[in-house]
Amino acid sequence: MYQSLRSRLLLYYLIVMAAILSIFGTGVYVVFRRNLYNQLDKRLLTLAQSATPSFTAVRDRGSKYLNQVEEVPWRDIFNRDQQSLEWFDEKGKLLGRKGLIHLGVEPEVGTKIVQQPKTGEVFRTHTLSVFVRNNGQAGPPSLIGFIRATQSSAEIEAAEEQLFWILVVSGMLTLVLIGLGGFWLTLKAIEPIEASFLQLKQFTADASHELRSPLTAIKASVDIIRNHPERVHSKDVKKLEAIAGATLQMNQTLEDLLFLARADADSDVPVQARKLTPVSLNQILQNCFVLLEPFANDKKIVFQSKFRSEVKILGDPAHLSRLFSNLLENALQYTPEEGRVSLDLYRQNRFAIVSVRDTGIGIAPEQISRVFDRFWRANKARSRREGGTGLGLAISQAIAKRHGGKIIVTSELNIGSCFLVRIPILDTKRSVVTKV
Ligand SMILES: Nc1ncnc2c1ncn2[C@@H]1O[C@H](COP(=O)(O)OP(=O)(O)O)[C@@H](O)[C@H]1O
Ligand SMILES: [Mg+2]
Repeated sequence: MYQSLRSRLLLYYLIVMAAILSIFGTGVYVVFRRNLYNQLDKRLLTLAQSATPSFTAVRDRGSKYLNQVEEVPWRDIFNRDQQSLEWFDEKGKLLGRKGLIHLGVEPEVGTKIVQQPKTGEVFRTHTLSVFVRNNGQAGPPSLIGFIRATQSSAEIEAAEEQLFWILVVSGMLTLVLIGLGGFWLTLKAIEPIEASFLQLKQFTADASHELRSPLTAIKASVDIIRNHPERVHSKDVKKLEAIAGATLQMNQTLEDLLFLARADADSDVPVQARKLTPVSLNQILQNCFVLLEPFANDKKIVFQSKFRSEVKILGDPAHLSRLFSNLLENALQYTPEEGRVSLDLYRQNRFAIVSVRDTGIGIAPEQISRVFDRFWRANKARSRREGGTGLGLAISQAIAKRHGGKIIVTSELNIGSCFLVRIPILDTKRSVVTKV
């Protein structure tokens, strides 16, 4: 139980951490990427700007000028392997180029992303318009051409990819470390829960034990008085009966609680180590059936049993009787008159299956998981009138677990319920109980 609670805690913890890490990683990636492109765009803008003064010279003297003159400002920042500079006239016709990149597209003012159809390579360009002020004349300056600076995005893409993998790998590593930390953390977190749960169990055991002796005393005294009816005032007879009835019910509840406390105490003992003997399941079921037949007859319930095979298991006969009579009592109790209750036994691989099926009031789907809870009842008022303690199924489940088995419930409201008990069959060859 703690194990599953722990692994669930750890899982939630890891999910939360993974979510935080991926948000963080995505943020870093996006910001970093944007910065890289911003820097590139700025570099291209500066390059284009620094090439502007040379515009008229290139226009007038063509590419030859580009090869001759060394002292132009853009040469200092120009990277001939990765960038290119192009000069266009006002109609977009190429006047000169420096660099190896041939985009083959018309200049467009501003920052543009161009993909070369042949190679698929992506380039970033920045294009400036070049104007001249008309000497002495008023009016707007006139456009004389464009200058375009271009650089491939390949380098940035590589950096981007590298960053991506660094983030993924370091994220994974961090998650592994968080997992290790979480393993320890959940261990610590569970400790107090475990302790308080143990304390609660111990308290239940102690309290029911302590209440036992005074209750026994009350019961003995009531019995003595009831054995001498002549001493009882006629007006008190009913009260005395009420006391006797309440005492009996309290005693039953206490015994049930003590039983569960003991079951809790040895729930850590492995199935193989429990003191169980080979018993015939058919025999036990037959006894339960016979004992409850009169009750079924009183309610005019069709009560049937069918044992399809002879089954032996390792078990405690008294406990097994209790397990099955609890289920049968419930079936009879929660089935209205003229209903039907059937008890079946069959084998399924290495398991004995006992099914208790009724056509009773059923259990609502959202309540099915609660039926094994201690003191839980669907309808408290009615159940008390019918004498239940609400511990019956909790006890049945504890007994089934003690035998390495489990109980599976299916039910439909107003149609009926089915309780399946699955217990490993005694393996006569190896004389051990098969694992569940
Ligand atoms: N066969 C059944 N059909 C319908 N409801 C059932 C059946 N068995 C159990 N229940 C529901 O589960 C509750 C718990 O059962 P149990 O632990 O035996 O307590 P009790 O019978 O003392 O009330 C019952 O109060 C009832 O609401
Ligand atoms: Mg019951």
